[in-house]
Amino acid sequence: MSKLRIGVIGAGGIGDAHLRAYAAWPELCEIIAVADVNFAVAQTKASCYHATAFDDPRIMLDRCRLDAVSICTPPKWHLPLALEVAERGIACLCEKPPACTLAETEAIVAAFERSGAILQFAFCHRFHEPVRQMQELIGAGKLGRIVQIYNRFGFRFDRAATSWFTDPEVAGGGVLIDTLVHSLDIFRMLAGEIERLEAAVSTTLPISVEDTASIQVVSRSGVIGSLHCSWVTPVSEAEIRVWGTEGEAIVDYASSDGARYRLAGESDWTVLSARAPDRFILQAAHFLSCVRHRQPPCVGAADGLAVMRAVEAAYRSASRK
Ligand SMILES: NC(=O)c1ccc[n+]([C@@H]2O[C@H](COP(=O)([O-])OP(=O)(O)OC[C@H]3O[C@@H](n4cnc5c(N)ncnc54)[C@H](O)[C@@H]3O)[C@@H](O)[C@H]2O)c1
Repeated sequence: MSKLRIGVIGAGGIGDAHLRAYAAWPELCEIIAVADVNFAVAQTKASCYHATAFDDPRIMLDRCRLDAVSICTPPKWHLPLALEVAERGIACLCEKPPACTLAETEAIVAAFERSGAILQFAFCHRFHEPVRQMQELIGAGKLGRIVQIYNRFGFRFDRAATSWFTDPEVAGGGVLIDTLVHSLDIFRMLAGEIERLEAAVSTTLPISVEDTASIQVVSRSGVIGSLHCSWVTPVSEAEIRVWGTEGEAIVDYASSDGARYRLAGESDWTVLSARAPDRFILQAAHFLSCVRHRQPPCVGAADGLAVMRAVEAAYRSASRK
């Protein structure tokens, strides 16, 4: 079986995570090329994997006979780059948020529908082993009927004011589209499709986008979610809690354990083991398998569209307050 030929576009923080993840599967793929408009960055990263560096992603796509590409640039460039990738029939793992707007996401999805190439959106929390365990507990009915979900990602983002993350032209918004987008995807994964939501945002830093956001969301099946993200709170926290009629479960990202759960009548928590590769490595494995077997990814076009619909509904809701 020949190895899949991989290229990575955007060799910054998350590009690094994708490269490391592909490198964890040497029997499945080979990192052929790295492209970054900052050529020095591309060269540094490419040299770690004996790959070729490019400063123009289109030249990389034309020259390297790639099977699959990760798009790891800021969101403004997801659409133009995804169009180039789709046009060449190359499979794509596109970082979150899918794009700056729903309309851009629709254009990406349409391009991949036309080309028939695989499109996966990089909602990496789906591959975090404790979250997968929580999904399994829910799916097996252990917690009974799910009634409430709480999720918070909070941390102090010191670089916020000086990075592209707070330039709405490049990022599409602030913490809501950047971070809460993960929460919306996790909620959909655990509770099903979103029926309605209400959002509030605030800004504490000297920036023009929101740095704190909260959403109350209700799924079609009636599960209520309370989702919170902030870039200005000093203690890093990442937690998901789920309550059902027969028990509750918690995922605490700070813990090295897996999900823990407690059923009706139990005073002690059952703690699952989290022994598994990290979420980026498992995300890459899923993508590579989908490309190899030409199967639709578990987090594809429909998920990207649904999440961006929710993101835009949240911005509309917050602006009415
Ligand atoms: N899944 C996650 O948990 C997670 C975490 C962080 C970032 N992200 C996402 O990953 C993407 C990149 O974020 P980051 O933190 O790596 O940013 P970054 O600033 O660290 O890196 C982005 C890189 O892209 C390069 N670049 C910019 N425009 C380009 C273009 N047109 N062609 C080629 N290269 C280009 C830049 O030079 C830079 O090296 C964003 O969409 C972000 O939301 C996801």
